[in-house]
Amino acid sequence: MQDILISFFIFCIASSQLLGIVYSKTTFDVVKFGAVGDGQTDDTEAFVKAWTALCGAAAGGDDVPTLTIPGGKTFLLQPSEFEGPCKSKSVHVQVSGNLVAPKTPDAWKVCPPHSWLVFRKVGNLIIDGSGKIDGQGSTWWGEDSSLINGKKEKCERPTKALHFLRCDHLRLSGLTHINSPRSHIGISTSNDVEISHLTIIAPDESPNTDGINVTNSTYVNIHDSKIGTGDDCITIMSGSSNVRIAKIACGPGHGISVGSLGADGAYAAVENVYVRDCSFIGTQNGARIKTWPGGSGYARNITFEHITLTATKNPIIIDQQYCNGAHDCAKQSKAVLVSNVRFTDFRGTCGNEEAIKLDCNHISGCQNIELVKINITSTVPSKKVYASCNNAKGNSGSTVPTVSCLKYPTRPFI
Ligand SMILES: *[C@@H]1O[C@H](CO)[C@@H](O)[C@H](O)[C@H]1NC(C)=O
Ligand SMILES: *[C@@H]1O[C@H](CO)[C@@H](O)[C@H](O)[C@H]1NC(C)=O
Ligand SMILES: *[C@@H]1O[C@H](CO)[C@@H](O)[C@H](O)[C@H]1NC(C)=O
Ligand SMILES: *[C@@H]1O[C@H](CO)[C@@H](O)[C@H](O)[C@H]1NC(C)=O
Repeated sequence: MQDILISFFIFCIASSQLLGIVYSKTTFDVVKFGAVGDGQTDDTEAFVKAWTALCGAAAGGDDVPTLTIPGGKTFLLQPSEFEGPCKSKSVHVQVSGNLVAPKTPDAWKVCPPHSWLVFRKVGNLIIDGSGKIDGQGSTWWGEDSSLINGKKEKCERPTKALHFLRCDHLRLSGLTHINSPRSHIGISTSNDVEISHLTIIAPDESPNTDGINVTNSTYVNIHDSKIGTGDDCITIMSGSSNVRIAKIACGPGHGISVGSLGADGAYAAVENVYVRDCSFIGTQNGARIKTWPGGSGYARNITFEHITLTATKNPIIIDQQYCNGAHDCAKQSKAVLVSNVRFTDFRGTCGNEEAIKLDCNHISGCQNIELVKINITSTVPSKKVYASCNNAKGNSGSTVPTVSCLKYPTRPFI
């Protein structure tokens, strides 16, 4: 009997390790710190206290101090910041319950400083669980979003529901993120980040509700997630490199984008981006690179591979003359260089007739652009689709539609 018990015990330990479950001896339950979780009471103070305890905990050995947010409850939070560095090498936040922002802008006690929930300078932060983060964004999407405490104080719309700044080795997984005022998740100045198994949802028509915004960050890995919002599913902004994106189901939304880069004459640099095995379902765009005239720097070594399209309006776009409606902006004499970009194995249907648009400027053009194994057909069987080109150089092979401008011999793709 004892043997059986011991084997069972060993089995439990072994399987929990196999499943990657983190069992911590040092746990901090937000309810024990006074959080109510009825969706009405302001639980901000309890969360901040629990965070302070977590972040100050010195865990021994391999133990990772864990903050638990229990399931079956809804916690109302005002704009909050959770700051490190923490005493323990790693901290874990387990989200089983729901977090909600104040329902209307006038219920926000203060104008949100950029974002609703911010994690700053926390190394080796693990956030997981099956909980939900609800930004209550709908009131910020309309006209009447500037009433705070009933006063006509002008509040900026929060830029992110959840923002990570300088959080190296971040691991974020499992959660559902809905209805952010603007972007759902921001990753800024963070290195070695893994994001997976998320669900991000906002209505198709909600303005600027990007899924994930990666800025100034390196070695970022985003995979196995479902993102459907009113703007880009994922946007990769300046200062980012070595970004890998795989198995994202995107739609509705504006696709996966690099940029926009170089607005207002800015220097911008993005390189080594690899997007593979993604699907775009009813999105406005698919794979997109957009840069402003007048900027400088580069977007280079970018690959989109194994992409499935379902009624995607604009499946492939390089727009080096992105102006977002601004006047006279095409007359600039500088440009963000776009080079070594590869689109391979795209198949499916396109809503517009212009399936491929390579619109590069007269200054540098786009260099070493490669399109191979492309088969994009119209959602309307009788309609033909086409590719358009402006100053794009590179090569193409086996593409439907044909991309006649990409015929120059180029150096091999690196
Ligand atoms: C970008 O990241 C670097 C470190 O990687 C940092 O020194 C710099 O301040 C960051 N820039 C911005 C605008 O945050
Ligand atoms: C992405 O986030 C950065 C940093 O907060 C911000 O400057 C930028 O405007 C955002 N981009 C988009 C497309 O929202
Ligand atoms: C291009 O980017 C990929 C990652 O997507 C990287 O593995 C490769 O080393 C990069 N190539 C160069 C020449 O930097
Ligand atoms: C492209 O896809 C269509 C629709 O699936 C198919 O009928 C056609 O044979 C394909 N063409 C090529 C060249 O693979």
